[in-house]
Amino acid sequence: MKNFIQDSGGQFGPFGGCFAPELLQPVIKRIEKIFEDFKASPELQAEFHKKLKHFAGRPTPIYHAENLSKTLGGAQIWVKREDLLHGGAHKTNNVIGQSILAREMGAKYLIAETGAGQHGIASAMAAAQIGLPLKVFMGAKDVVRQKVNVERMELLGAEVISVESGSRSLKDAINEAMRYWISHAEDTYYIFGTAAGPHPFPELVSLFHKVIGEEARAQILEETGKLPDEVHACVGGGSNAIGIFQGFLDDKEVKLVGAEPGGDGKRHGLTLGKGVIGCLHGSISKVNCDKNGQIEESHSISAGLDYPGISPIHAYLQSIESAEYVGITDDEAMEALLKFSRSEGIIPALESSHAIAEVMKRAPKMNKDQILLINLSGRGDKDLHTVFEYLENQK
Ligand SMILES: Cc1ncc(COP(=O)(O)O)c(C=O)c1O
Repeated sequence: MKNFIQDSGGQFGPFGGCFAPELLQPVIKRIEKIFEDFKASPELQAEFHKKLKHFAGRPTPIYHAENLSKTLGGAQIWVKREDLLHGGAHKTNNVIGQSILAREMGAKYLIAETGAGQHGIASAMAAAQIGLPLKVFMGAKDVVRQKVNVERMELLGAEVISVESGSRSLKDAINEAMRYWISHAEDTYYIFGTAAGPHPFPELVSLFHKVIGEEARAQILEETGKLPDEVHACVGGGSNAIGIFQGFLDDKEVKLVGAEPGGDGKRHGLTLGKGVIGCLHGSISKVNCDKNGQIEESHSISAGLDYPGISPIHAYLQSIESAEYVGITDDEAMEALLKFSRSEGIIPALESSHAIAEVMKRAPKMNKDQILLINLSGRGDKDLHTVFEYLENQK
């Protein structure tokens, strides 16, 4: 399994590939070449790691959620604190890497898509840092529910473009960013925000997030003297999950579990749970579509998981039974967010709360000496609007 992502050439069993429009093929080929140069360059890699340390604040710690573990009365719950990374989520790792690729390519303009706004913020931070203008495409529904993040992006100097088409969420933001890129490909770099999309994006986004799993594995061994029994992460496009999973892919005794958005009983975003093989945003993976093959609208209370596609790498891991994917409803995620905030003094992102919810189901059935490690992918400040609206509707 070692390095299977970097050795894949973008093909993961039947999944992956590069099915981008013809007009984008030359720029994607250039990105592939620059990425190969990056992997072969000790200087560029040193620059990446230096920025991760001094700009983003790596390494992030792991933390023993002792109160929640005690209340649930079973396994010990640990969290990897990506919420403490500069910007407030794991997304910064990927963006630092891709901003180096953009600069090396000589790009004059940057574009990005965003769902929860975290990838938009990370891109805006990097754009400010390397001195390039940035346009962020964001679904109109997400512009409302993640308002604080829109303001943060604008403060950092980015232009946020509200996308009114389709479900007005992440899928449509990516569609619009791709459309824009087709007519500006010669001087514009697209900072893709998750481990999906056409090759080489799944591979390069995974590489830039690998540091999460590498750190977490060493840290849990140092703190507890053993590996975790299970590693959990939420799954939108799949970047934070593949980031932490990569630290444990060779540890057969460690179970890998991804939490997808189970939605509200009527609608969902269970791409791995209920999807079929199909093509979305430039690669073959699992997708949710209707009987005519049209992509179905997804639903999640969390903007960052509201996506009908998924990384081809997760579709592959599921197909070879190296990872398991479960569904968590909006209500379960919200309950986990409240419980975790009040027992640990940490407000997790609604996205990450899906992984916490799954762990809250499993921990009581396990022994006190077992360990569940969660990737706490981001902080929940951005979700206050959604949380209070939810609580108001419960009254
Ligand atoms: C905090 C947080 N966690 C998770 C995600 C989901 O993305 P991914 O599956 O690529 O990690 C997002 C996406 O916006 C996010 O903001």
